[in-house]
Amino acid sequence: MSEKSYQNVSEIARLQNQELYRAISWTGSFQDYLNLAHQEPDVLRTAYQRMFDMIISHGTDVYTDQKKEITRYLFFYDLPNQGREAVFGLDIPLMRLVNIFKGAACGYGPERRIILLHGPVGSAKSSIVRLIKRGLEDYSRTDRGKLYTFNWILPPEMVRISGGETTFPNPMNQDPILLVPPEWRRQVVTDLIGEDRFRYPIESLTLDYDLDPASRLIYNELLRHYNGDWEKVVSNHVQVRRLVLSEKDRVGIGTFQPKDEKNQDSTELTGDLNYRKIAEYGSDSDPRAFNFDGEFNIANRGIVEFIEMLKLDVAFLYDLLGATQEHKIKPKKFAQTDIDEVIIGHTNEAEYKKLLGNEFMEALRDRTIKVDIPYITRVSEEQKIYAKNFHAGRIKKHIAPHTLEMASMWSVLTRLQPPTNQNISLIQKMKLYDGKLISGYTVDTIKELRKNSEGEAMTGISPRYVQDKLSAVLVSEEVSGCINPFMVMNELEKGLRNHTLITSEEQRENYREILALVKEEYENVVKHELQRVISADEESITRLCAKYIDNVKAYTLKESIRDKYSGNRMDPDEKLMRSIEEKIDVPENRKDDFRSELMNFIGALALEHKQFDYKQNERLLRALELKLFEDSRDTLKFSTLGGAGVLDKEDQGKLDVIRKRLITEYHYCEDCASDILHYATSIFARGDTKIP
Ligand SMILES: Nc1ncnc2c1ncn2[C@@H]1O[C@H](COP(=O)(O)OP(=O)(O)OP(=O)(O)O)[C@@H](O)[C@H]1O
Ligand SMILES: [Mg+2]
Repeated sequence: MSEKSYQNVSEIARLQNQELYRAISWTGSFQDYLNLAHQEPDVLRTAYQRMFDMIISHGTDVYTDQKKEITRYLFFYDLPNQGREAVFGLDIPLMRLVNIFKGAACGYGPERRIILLHGPVGSAKSSIVRLIKRGLEDYSRTDRGKLYTFNWILPPEMVRISGGETTFPNPMNQDPILLVPPEWRRQVVTDLIGEDRFRYPIESLTLDYDLDPASRLIYNELLRHYNGDWEKVVSNHVQVRRLVLSEKDRVGIGTFQPKDEKNQDSTELTGDLNYRKIAEYGSDSDPRAFNFDGEFNIANRGIVEFIEMLKLDVAFLYDLLGATQEHKIKPKKFAQTDIDEVIIGHTNEAEYKKLLGNEFMEALRDRTIKVDIPYITRVSEEQKIYAKNFHAGRIKKHIAPHTLEMASMWSVLTRLQPPTNQNISLIQKMKLYDGKLISGYTVDTIKELRKNSEGEAMTGISPRYVQDKLSAVLVSEEVSGCINPFMVMNELEKGLRNHTLITSEEQRENYREILALVKEEYENVVKHELQRVISADEESITRLCAKYIDNVKAYTLKESIRDKYSGNRMDPDEKLMRSIEEKIDVPENRKDDFRSELMNFIGALALEHKQFDYKQNERLLRALELKLFEDSRDTLKFSTLGGAGVLDKEDQGKLDVIRKRLITEYHYCEDCASDILHYATSIFARGDTKIP
């Protein structure tokens, strides 16, 4: 991004969306609202309906994974470069969750249960709820997601009714439709929106909800004032306004986090007396002297989140149960009050276990829909978490290829149960889960694996731990250039010593062993990558191919061959030819056939004036690639044994080609390219010639 200076405030002002501002500041009469509800029945939706529609509005993506059809809700997923929070790798639990929301939206029952996200620490429970909260805020600002509430408007001579205010906002941001008395409301709503212009059953709407205590009082006073003339009340004193949800402003979005268990106060949930106003009204049971500012109150029309729900004092848990089952809360001194809001809680595994033995838990469990949110079990998805945190736009240091992959591999491996099937290793299981093909294993193997791993991914290393270690490496003064997998793996290992959530030495040891597995896997990855880099060196392959064919030609014609440099004539290089042929298992006694077949083929092409291209011959290509890899590997080996200075020009050239390709095509930087070449030479120097 290039910098820019602003010469004039208006240049910045141009960034403002005035149209949006005007739209969300809309006010109108009750009649206007009726017209609106008729045109767009969606404004009457309940909180669950609005939330469900909001999620759906971001689109879905259906794919098959292991023969199972899965719907991915793009809302939870990151669209490229949006930079917003996202939840990865949990499509199945999220599908379950959204289905519950759907049931709640339709009024089939889940709206009367506590939805409890349950999972190990750091499994994205808070992230999921945070996304929903942000999503609702945004949605309420859009045309599709708009919702309304109202103010009481009183002329100066009538402000007695509102306690001195000419504008008295409905304290719980209720829907203006509640101004139509429940006795007539069903009829009015049905008339307004018809039977089939609305996606949800009419029954699911807030047909029998009452106004909050303060509005009810004002309503009744006004009604009395007009001798029972409802029309005058709503026409003269109601101003409908657009409602924009905002957690910061405590509008429609509440969060409750219990402090210590002894110190919980119901007013935090259902509001408190306003002592200053009590003096004005002369009574502490006047609802106008009440602050409807508990989390349940302010969350009306939106969502309330209960963090660490099970830490809530038992008495409050019953409040919570009431709020969910009846959609009613009971503010101090007042009658029960209707609420229209999504209630969602979360708890981690440890807290949940603590309560399992508790009798009360049974009552709670019966009224709770528990949704398990496990850790991610796919390496590629886990990696997305870290890639998002530590992408190039955000950090100045370079991260070597495979660094985040190895960290992800480790955390995923710690979560997997060891396969019961003796023929599958833990690493293989991990790869199968991630959709990698391993010969001999099918979709059914994976299904079987998943089936035999009940409760998997509810324990293990949390992404938070890995995030912390990655950031520790990033900020480390010792690391100046580029961050490589070893630095991260070492940091992950070091941290295990004082990881507070690891309870036994055995577990710690297990995590270390898994780290050793990852290091082994990294070695394979490096070998594989280098092989690919080297064999992609077309120039060298072409050269090697030409050399081979010259020799084969001389051999089949029983001629000698002319050396490029000395000009001397010599016998065909049998060693070279065999070293290539052996790579594809051409046995000694078949080599003549192989060579003459090749020459015949080239000859036939020549008759048609066509050039031979080794790429058309897969076997030969494979042989050449392997040979080239072996040669380069020897070069690498040699470079460590003898020191880079001893390399002759040709070998140095080969190394440079590899290095350059690593940088231009494989995302290495100068530093990590050197590191990896160095590392590779040590693998090869160890005599490990196995080609992955
Ligand atoms: N599936 C996931 N997708 C994206 N990010 C994730 C995922 N799981 C965990 N994270 C990341 O891990 C960190 C912890 O997640 P979060 O705070 O949502 O967990 P939590 O389940 O609420 O944990 P706790 O039980 O400790 O409250 C966050 O930075 C989050 O971005
Ligand atoms: Mg949390």
